[in-house]
Amino acid sequence: MTLVIDHIGELVTNDAALGDAVLGIVRDAALVVGDDGRVAWVGARSSAPAADRYVDAAGAAVIPGFVDSHAHLVFAGDRAAEFAARMAGSPYTGGGIRTTVAATRAASDDDLRATVARLHREMLRQGTTTIEIKSGYGLTVADERRSLRIAGEFTDETTYLGAHVIPADADPDDYTALVCGPMLDAAAPYARWIDVFCERGAFDEDRSRAVLTAGIRAGLGARIHANQLTAGGGVRLAVELGAASADHCTHLAPPDIDALAASASGGGPGTVATLLPGAEFSTRSPYPDARALLDAGATVALATDCNPGSSYTSSMPFCIALAVREMRMTPAEALWSATAGGAKALRRADIGHLGVGARADLAILDAPSFLHLAYRPGVPLVRTVLVSGTPSNEISGNRTTSTGTPTNGEAI
Ligand code: NIG
Ligand code: FE
Repeated sequence: MTLVIDHIGELVTNDAALGDAVLGIVRDAALVVGDDGRVAWVGARSSAPAADRYVDAAGAAVIPGFVDSHAHLVFAGDRAAEFAARMAGSPYTGGGIRTTVAATRAASDDDLRATVARLHREMLRQGTTTIEIKSGYGLTVADERRSLRIAGEFTDETTYLGAHVIPADADPDDYTALVCGPMLDAAAPYARWIDVFCERGAFDEDRSRAVLTAGIRAGLGARIHANQLTAGGGVRLAVELGAASADHCTHLAPPDIDALAASASGGGPGTVATLLPGAEFSTRSPYPDARALLDAGATVALATDCNPGSSYTSSMPFCIALAVREMRMTPAEALWSATAGGAKALRRADIGHLGVGARADLAILDAPSFLHLAYRPGVPLVRTVLVSGTPSNEISGNRTTSTGTPTNGEAI
């Protein structure tokens, strides 16, 4: 069953061959989804081929689905009181992670699954079509494994974050050995990535190197929480180890920016700087210097960091609005970073753009232009979401499977 989306006022493809340099915009466009759920044709609507099923976008903007490459969705409880205390002046230290660890360990599989499902639905409704999900609130062999098993019911982009913090009762060296040994063995079958919170009070640079190196040896890709609270060595470690992404990048020194820029122009996939402005918003911290990174030539992604402590938002449009208003990214840079940038941070070529052959993951906006994502902050502008060509209201279960009965000419 093929599908044509017609009457697209502004189609963002992220494919420079199809339109302008940054976003590959095609105006008065149509897009055809093939039987395989991939983009089969993109171009001016006047020359669009026919398809089995017809959707009228009525002049709206269509964008690639957001790629949220950094989220911690497997947890129990919330930390609203900690947020309120912060807004009254308390600093964020990461210490609250242990509160969530205790609640997560005490929760049933079904409770954890229900929370992931709820947040996954929230994200989908707001235009996110790919989500990375981390463990990291279990911190025992069994709890990290089950967190990843549950995450894997929702996404292929699962990340083992046993090295989130050192549990209250644990010796740092013993715990690091556990993370690199038996816990890794238990987690690896359920994980694509390994991550570490490289920070004073969490894992120092040597322990972070040990964790990522063990993960790489076990066949996982590396990513890292780096330079969130202090200007440590996390970003340079990420580049040194060829990590796919260095996340947060809030406190950067010039050599960190140079290292990220050099990795972006090095010919390989490079290390993406993933910025998480929801965390700065919710911890009332200074925002990362996105302009310095972009102007130096680094590849920048935007993600929510959705978690109950530092950033309890599931909204990529909110992060785009913050990036534009608070971090001086242009609206085009912010949208690119929230889609193509996220895909690069996950080393995926099939998502984050709408060129021919890409997975037909897209959002139809209740707006004539993508500019409205930042121009109208806090407004639910996502009208319809397609995942692999299937409208999200026809997606059943955790995974994205097609169950819809197509009819012609409907509004979806
Ligand atoms: O990305 N920095 C480490 N981890 C999360 C916060 C987790 C929490 O506070 O529960 C982050 O901000
Ligand atoms: Fe995080």
